[in-house]
Formats: sequence, C-alpha cells, structure tokens
Amino acid sequence: PKRVRIRHFLNAKREGVPITGLTSYDMLTAQIFDEAGMDFLLVGDSAGNNVFGYDTTLPVTVDDLIPLTRAVAGAVKRALVIADMPFGSYEGGAEEALHTAVRFMKEARAHAVKLEGGERSRQQIRRIVSAGIPVMGHVGFTPQSEHGLGGHIIQGRGDAAETLIKDALAVQDAGAFAIVLEMVPATVAAEVTKRLEIPTIGVGAGPHVDGQLLVWTDFAGMGAGRVPKFVRQYADVRGILTDAVRRYKDDVASGAYPAPEHSYE
Ligand code: KIV
Ligand code: NA
Repeated sequence: PKRVRIRHFLNAKREGVPITGLTSYDMLTAQIFDEAGMDFLLVGDSAGNNVFGYDTTLPVTVDDLIPLTRAVAGAVKRALVIADMPFGSYEGGAEEALHTAVRFMKEARAHAVKLEGGERSRQQIRRIVSAGIPVMGHVGFTPQSEHGLGGHIIQGRGDAAETLIKDALAVQDAGAFAIVLEMVPATVAAEVTKRLEIPTIGVGAGPHVDGQLLVWTDFAGMGAGRVPKFVRQYADVRGILTDAVRRYKDDVASGAYPAPEHSYE
C-alpha cells in the first residue's frame, strides 16, 4: 500500500474525505490497525495511563516513548506514525522542542510529532517544521496541563471560543499539517474546522471536523475504568480476554488442557 503522507491529510480535507486514527503503543496493535485501514497511528503519551500505569500523562518521558514509537513505526506499511512529545520535552523553547522531535525521528523513525498548546507553542512548532519534521498541533483540553486547567474540563465554551480559535490559527500559522481538537463543543469545533485550511482531528469534538482519533484501549473496551462520554466502544476486548483466561485456568484445573494434540511424542 502507498504510505500516507501529510499531503494526503491536506487533500482529504479539500476532498471532504474523513481521516481516521487510533493510538497505538506496540507492534501487534499497530499491525492490526494499519492493516484495517487507519490513516494514522498516534503513539500518545496516553501510554502513561494505558501502558505504564500512571494516573496522568505527566510522568511520561521521551525515553519511555521512544521504544514504543519504534515498535509502532516498524510495524506499519501505510499509516502515518505520529510521536507524541511528552510533558517537559518542549516547553523550554524552540531548541528543546527541535531536539526532542529529532530524537523521535532518528531513534524511533516516527513520521511526524505532536505537541500540545496553541499560541504558547508557536515558536516550537515553527522551529520543528523548519527542520523538515511534520507537526500535528493539539488544542482544547490538553492533558499535560490538566492541573493548570483545573481538571478534565471541556474547553472553548462561551467567551473561551475566541481564544481557542486564535490558538488553532496560531498552530496553523506556525506550519502544522493538522490539529487535534480535544473535548471542545461541537459548534466551536465546526467553526475552527471552517476557519482552518489544515485538517482538524476531533477527540470529543463532535462530527463537524475533518477526522477522528480515539485512544485504542477506550475504543476497544480494553481498560477497566469508565470511558469518556464521547467514546463509542467498538469491542469488549477486556471481556474476551478475561473469559479466555478463565477458560484456560479451568481447563488446566480439569485436565482438559493440554490434550493429546498439544503434546509431543
Ligand atoms: O496521548 C493521546 O492519546 C492523545 C490523544 C488523546 C489526542 O494525545
Ligand atoms: Na497526548
């Protein structure tokens, strides 16, 4: 299959073809999601919650994400692989941001990077893009600033809509090829989508955006906790695995496994 490139994102928006992505943190899910047609895979710092067992994304480091990104990038044939720049790896300025982005491209062979923030991340995005590295922006609810924002709160409501639009325009102006809108009202996401030339990728941003992204453990019913309102669960992988483990244990207990066909002469 022909690899997805950033020009395909821009063409998709122009042609009105929705873009679809999932997070992935390992080779097997990357292979499955890529073969099933995902346009992009995000190696999100949501690995903090879904791989490393932290309760936020804040403790995640570049060294944590590089091996995961390398596994995902090595597994795909078509999807664009985007590495998420973790908290503390780019806020210090343009040079710090470039250094981190280069590590993801060189050590993990990512195809693009993502970082959070609108106006405040303008210099960082510009510097990375100028080095030939595609950047995906991320505004609205930005989990790395959860403590500054005061929790998991919908962003861009009421008067805050203008600020959100300005932030999205700053990301576009800095040279990003696409932008994630996380947990913003559908009407505001629609307005941002209309105002921008680059595609908007919604995560809890309603239907009037250019693409959708979900955290795979949410969308597949892998996690133990509640999923956000905006998630549709397409599978019950946790239930399937739990059932398989129970049957395996029962079979070992009863002597039904291993059977003769599982034994060597
Ligand atoms: O880390 C992540 O999974 C993300 C998406 C939810 C946008 O940043
Ligand atoms: Na993230």
